[in-house]
Amino acid sequence: MIRKFVIFSTLLLAMVAFVAMMASAEEAKHEYVGNKKCKGCHKDQFKAWGETTHATSFDKLSDEEKAKPECAKCHTSGTMADGTLLEGVTCEGCHGPGSDYKSPKIMSKKKYKADKEAQRKLALEAGLILPGEADCVTCHTKEGNTNFKPFEFEKRKGEVHPPAVAEAEK
Ligand code: HEC
Ligand code: HEC
Ligand code: HEC
Ligand code: HEC
Repeated sequence: MIRKFVIFSTLLLAMVAFVAMMASAEEAKHEYVGNKKCKGCHKDQFKAWGETTHATSFDKLSDEEKAKPECAKCHTSGTMADGTLLEGVTCEGCHGPGSDYKSPKIMSKKKYKADKEAQRKLALEAGLILPGEADCVTCHTKEGNTNFKPFEFEKRKGEVHPPAVAEAEK
């Protein structure tokens, strides 16, 4: 009887621990890693992005405005684990924090070539965002944006960085 109880409660404890572990894995957040981590593999996008005002949009603010969350929120892209503020609209400002999807196991030329859809699914599960209009208008909106200009997604998405020169084929 007692032995059965011990086995039962051990099982129960193991189950509780397992559920708790799964829950915390679920909550594990993707971290921001900074543009430099994307640059080496995406030279064309990096160069083209660097020529847009997304790269410098934090510099447009005065020191006083930089300290104001109501300005900084659309002129920055998050904070790295070590506290570094990502100034401007960085790669991850649109594509999501990259700690997990940047892995060569996911972003692999070979694997993308073999099965693009499967590999993309893994990337999206690891936090990659392929931004659509809804992701742009979080910032390109009138609300709080003192310099608002009307925004047409279809016209402007090509200006963010030119489409890759079929990098996988290179
Ligand atoms: C180890 C090299 C490597 C690193 C680091 C890397 N990528 Fe990639 N990335 C690739 C490869 C390879 C592909 C798939 C083939 C291609 O398009 O070149 C890819 C694909 C992508 C795609 C398109 C995904 C799709 O399914 O259409 C995006 C967006 C992207 N990367 C963004 C980023 C960002 C942002 C970072 C930095 C946080 C980053 N990558 C870091 C190699 C890398
Ligand atoms: C985190 C906020 C944010 C997000 C998200 C964002 N933008 Fe922007 N965008 C800005 C800011 C701020 C500027 C103006 C920068 C400046 O003038 O210094 C800007 C400027 C631009 C410009 C002008 C670039 C130039 O150099 O002429 C284009 C085009 C643009 N955004 C397109 C987009 C598109 C398309 C998306 C979504 C795929 C997007 N933006 C997402 C904040 C954002
Ligand atoms: C909701 C997002 C958002 C907020 C909040 C925001 N901005 Fe911007 N800001 C933008 C976008 C997007 C642009 C580019 C213009 C556009 O397309 O709407 C921009 C452009 C600018 C520019 C460049 C204007 C130009 O014509 O070159 C300056 C300067 C600026 N913002 C300052 C500020 C200040 C100061 C604040 C705080 C009072 C602020 N922004 C708050 C999104 C925002
Ligand atoms: C303002 C938002 C924005 C920023 C900033 C941005 N991207 Fe993108 N990126 C996009 C959009 C939109 C697409 C097209 C998504 C789609 O095809 O569904 C894209 C597509 C890509 C792709 C797929 C191939 C291609 O070129 O279409 C790669 C790789 C990529 N981005 C890498 C980067 C890297 C690296 C950076 C930083 C240097 C960056 N992106 C910055 C919006 C952005």
